[in-house]
Amino acid sequence: MQAMVYRGPYRIRVEEKDVPAIEHPNDAIVRVRLAAICGSDLHLYHGMMPDTRIGHTFGHEFVGVVHEVGSSVQNLRVGDRVMVPFNIFCGSCFFCARGLYANCHNVNPNATAVGAIYGYSHTTGGYDGGQAEYVRVPFADVGPSVIPDWLGDEDAVLLTDAGPTGYFGAQLGGIVEGDVVVVFGAGPVGLFAARSAWLMGAGRVIVVDHLQYRLDLARSFAFAETLNFVEVDDVVLELKRLTDWLGADVAIDAVGAEADGNLLQHITAAKLKLQGGSPIALNWAIDGVRKGGTVSVLGAYGPTPSLVKFGDALNKGLTIRGNQCPVKRQWPRLLDHVKNGYLRPSDIVTHRFPLEHIAEAYHTFSAKLDGIVKPLVTVSGA
Ligand SMILES: NC(=O)c1ccc[n+]([C@@H]2O[C@H](COP(=O)([O-])OP(=O)(O)OC[C@H]3O[C@@H](n4cnc5c(N)ncnc54)[C@H](O)[C@@H]3O)[C@@H](O)[C@H]2O)c1
Ligand SMILES: [Zn+2]
Ligand SMILES: [Zn+2]
Repeated sequence: MQAMVYRGPYRIRVEEKDVPAIEHPNDAIVRVRLAAICGSDLHLYHGMMPDTRIGHTFGHEFVGVVHEVGSSVQNLRVGDRVMVPFNIFCGSCFFCARGLYANCHNVNPNATAVGAIYGYSHTTGGYDGGQAEYVRVPFADVGPSVIPDWLGDEDAVLLTDAGPTGYFGAQLGGIVEGDVVVVFGAGPVGLFAARSAWLMGAGRVIVVDHLQYRLDLARSFAFAETLNFVEVDDVVLELKRLTDWLGADVAIDAVGAEADGNLLQHITAAKLKLQGGSPIALNWAIDGVRKGGTVSVLGAYGPTPSLVKFGDALNKGLTIRGNQCPVKRQWPRLLDHVKNGYLRPSDIVTHRFPLEHIAEAYHTFSAKLDGIVKPLVTVSGA
């Protein structure tokens, strides 16, 4: 089969690999119809993620058709059209029993923090991902769901990560009616977080980024006010000015480890790897939220400590929450919202690349060329 393969930082290509086989009775093999590239994949592409091995296939956002099932699989049949959450999880451990699907204890021998994620390095378990013609899906009775007939592939693929993650970020913010919510990052995750904030009763939503074309989408897709951080001297001061000098009630970090906006932080984090990521967006969130407010962290950070303004967070009495999104936990409510027309996830799709051209897709997305927001990867023959 054809699969995207990692060859080192900024080097990926399509190679021929064996079609994955059933390794456990509860595995399924899914023939991928459509995949996506996530902002998180860029951290892998840039060589930021420890233990990203040569030969690994990325891709944790994909939908497809069940090609083969193991002998104990009961919930899926060959031919079912399925969406697969980016988390691999067992469904029955201490953590899964509490809905912490992103922190499953049975799927990733390499870590005690994060659980397992498709195509996201050996740090998250070493499972090959879905930017390929076929993918092995462990715990097939637990993770995937059959896609309802009324939901198209392009909407479904955005419900395997970006959509639920943004929604989860708004949930973690504990938004109550009338809250002022500021979202850092107008990528797919930030756009969904901003849009979801309204569904939870926000009174104002402000999105911060420096890419004007994405801020334009924050206005049209997420109905948000926007703030371009390169157009102001001090983004925190500007946020205070916009919020009666109090600060926002809730701040959502949808940027993560590779944030721009502070050269020193960027070099020490992204280039020299002295920090587990540049905390500049997180620090803006801590400074930009009011005393007693909540900071919700979606942006990815590595395990190494970063220069986060923890003392300020403590002295302001902030609540800080974060996690990898437990995707399947979001599906019931989110599917209702999509079915009822409150949200069409595919509205943020800007680019579609065939799998054979995935190197170009990564380059375009990484360099933020051509107005790219969300690239999909189509798989021929599907
Ligand atoms: N927690 C989870 O489950 C989860 C899931 C998916 C993605 N993520 C993470 O969420 C983050 C966003 O993902 P995405 O797909 O939207 O990525 P993306 O790269 O498309 O978007 C990031 C955006 O942040 C902007 N940005 C850079 N520096 C900024 C700053 N200082 N302030 C405000 N904006 C800034 C960029 O211009 C860009 O538009 C990534 O770190 C990704 O790894 C987490
Ligand atoms: Zn992702
Ligand atoms: Zn589990």
